[in-house]
Amino acid sequence: MKNYALGHPVNKLIHGCDYNPDQWLDRSDILSKDIEYMKKAGINEATLGVFSWSAYEPVEGEFHFEWLTEVMDRLYENGISTILATPSGARPIWMDQKYPEVMRVDGMGHRNRHGFRHNHCLSSEVFRDKVRIIDGKLAKIAGDHPGLIAWHISNEFGGECFCDLCKEKFRDYLRKRFNNDINLLNHEWWSSFWSAKYNDFSDIEPPYQNGQNALMALKLEWHRFTTYNYADYISVEIDTIREASQNKDIPITTNLMQRFYDIDYRELAKKIDFISWDSYPKFHNDLERYEDTMMESAFDHALLRCLKKDKPFFLMESAPAHVNWMDYNKLKRPHVHDQFSCQTVACGSDSIQYFQWRRSRGGAEQFHGAVMDHSGSTDTRVFRDVAYTGEVLGKLAEIEGTVKKNEAAVIFEWDCWWSIDVSGGFSRHTKKYDVTCMDHFKSLIPFGVEADVISVNDDFEDYKLIIAPMLFLIRPETIDKMKRFVENGGVLLATYMTGYVNENSLCYEGGFPGDGLKELFGIVNEEIDTLYPSDRNGISMDGKTLVVKDYAELIKPIDAEVIGTYTDDFYKDTAAITCKRYGNGKAYYQAARLLNEDMGDLVRKILNDAGIKIRDLLSGIEHHVRYGDDHIYEFYFNIGEEPAEVSDLDGTDMITGDTVNGSVTILPRRYLILKK
Ligand code: GLA
Ligand code: ZN
Repeated sequence: MKNYALGHPVNKLIHGCDYNPDQWLDRSDILSKDIEYMKKAGINEATLGVFSWSAYEPVEGEFHFEWLTEVMDRLYENGISTILATPSGARPIWMDQKYPEVMRVDGMGHRNRHGFRHNHCLSSEVFRDKVRIIDGKLAKIAGDHPGLIAWHISNEFGGECFCDLCKEKFRDYLRKRFNNDINLLNHEWWSSFWSAKYNDFSDIEPPYQNGQNALMALKLEWHRFTTYNYADYISVEIDTIREASQNKDIPITTNLMQRFYDIDYRELAKKIDFISWDSYPKFHNDLERYEDTMMESAFDHALLRCLKKDKPFFLMESAPAHVNWMDYNKLKRPHVHDQFSCQTVACGSDSIQYFQWRRSRGGAEQFHGAVMDHSGSTDTRVFRDVAYTGEVLGKLAEIEGTVKKNEAAVIFEWDCWWSIDVSGGFSRHTKKYDVTCMDHFKSLIPFGVEADVISVNDDFEDYKLIIAPMLFLIRPETIDKMKRFVENGGVLLATYMTGYVNENSLCYEGGFPGDGLKELFGIVNEEIDTLYPSDRNGISMDGKTLVVKDYAELIKPIDAEVIGTYTDDFYKDTAAITCKRYGNGKAYYQAARLLNEDMGDLVRKILNDAGIKIRDLLSGIEHHVRYGDDHIYEFYFNIGEEPAEVSDLDGTDMITGDTVNGSVTILPRRYLILKK
């Protein structure tokens, strides 16, 4: 059952860091200490070369890789592996000066000037060629180095380009998408309104901020095109690396980000061998409890892991201390680094890596926390925390390659996120598709239930319960899948804003939820009430009142059982939560948004119906499991503020080696990892 992120075991969990020695090439005193200190911190991997283009190729065609191979050799001799990044995240100045087309154009049509990072035109063939050259050389020089364990393509892809090259590519993309039929496009985009009709594909412009910005389907398709262009671009880098490397088996990844809006990550995931991502939770912010930040982190791990859900992922970056880019860059409190790192492993990661090893003296990230701070000392709180994590990961080594198996899933669709977002109406401030999916995921945690976060294209039959929050955009094939899932005994919960539009953002006719779903849920939605932030309604269910905020649909039951009704306003006593038995399963419809703390009663019902074992945990305890061939690894985290007792335990404490039987009290910010 084990499955390895790198395709083979390395017999440890990776404990690594972004290492940027190119900042210190004239400081042998610094470089000579780095490896000694890395070993002291239990670091066994270093990610090299992110943004090193100007160190490799300071002027066009003049290459310097000596420093890189020297560093890789020294790391390897000291038992530290390398993940090698391609340097395409930031461009050297000569390129922008000589080939301005490589610089991105913004949504107002203005070309960027040289500088910053992550701002190339990915359609530019000049840029692609320059990338092919540098990546090819890198792969030839370092691609079969014995210390190399993975390739890391570029860095945190994101953003859009509105240049003429991208515009032409967008038009070609649309020609294919609409069979070269402009009338079809006009029909699907409803362009007869506001005189928005096109005569030819060559008329179409991207949705410039000061241009055609009122066609929902154009904006939706632009998001899809942007994804398509990233996927197309990453293939250039991947193909170059594969072709030029002697060792073709080194797995390839790219570092993804938290709930990232610009790109449908599922398309990028198809191109890479394993998932890695960069997690920077805003611990201790003044808007939410620590507990919420941790549960959100669990959601983010699940979303990213499930891009390739049958294998572990890597945490490519995290902050050993604080960052420099938040509004308030607060220190991590004691035990937080340790707990967050173990939660990451519990959620399916086989690595804990940091940005970065040593703080920069100047430049863009001068005051960003690092393992080594400006003092140059290892006698610091952060260094000790990191070294302790190294020890803990050492004790957890056998968890490498173990997998997750969940019976519940929450659907999360980029397409749906974009389409809710680009459509007008409702509220500008409270649609919050991503947060809503996360809230439904979090609602399962107090019951000891972990969920996968999946796409409508994933296999539904793997699950007993599927929650589909705000599935606004829905395709006929998804409707069929949902019906089959429930017919075969599954429990499905859908919410307000389900099935409003088709894949081109055209509203379904005949009432929502669209085609076929009325039959599944046994309801029809007549109107949706968008509430002001201070407005509240209620739902009366089983003698209790649950508090409603933001959205309340006015629905009419057709043949569903009403299990909750509104308590207030002109739609008082009408249906708010319904359930319909359909085949062997049940389809629930929750017509309004509930306060998070009021979601539990409905969740308990659907878990019971689905036959998923409820493990009533004290609030503040988060539970995760990883499955190996012979053992199960259970993780309990106290993310609350009070000591919490967990009972029914049985196994070996992997940190202390003690046998555990019965109950254990876990202190806030601490955890228990049991091997069974
Ligand atoms: C991102 C980038 C890194 C660094 C960190 C800082 O994750 O990939 O290069 O800028 O942010 O938090
Ligand atoms: Zn462009």
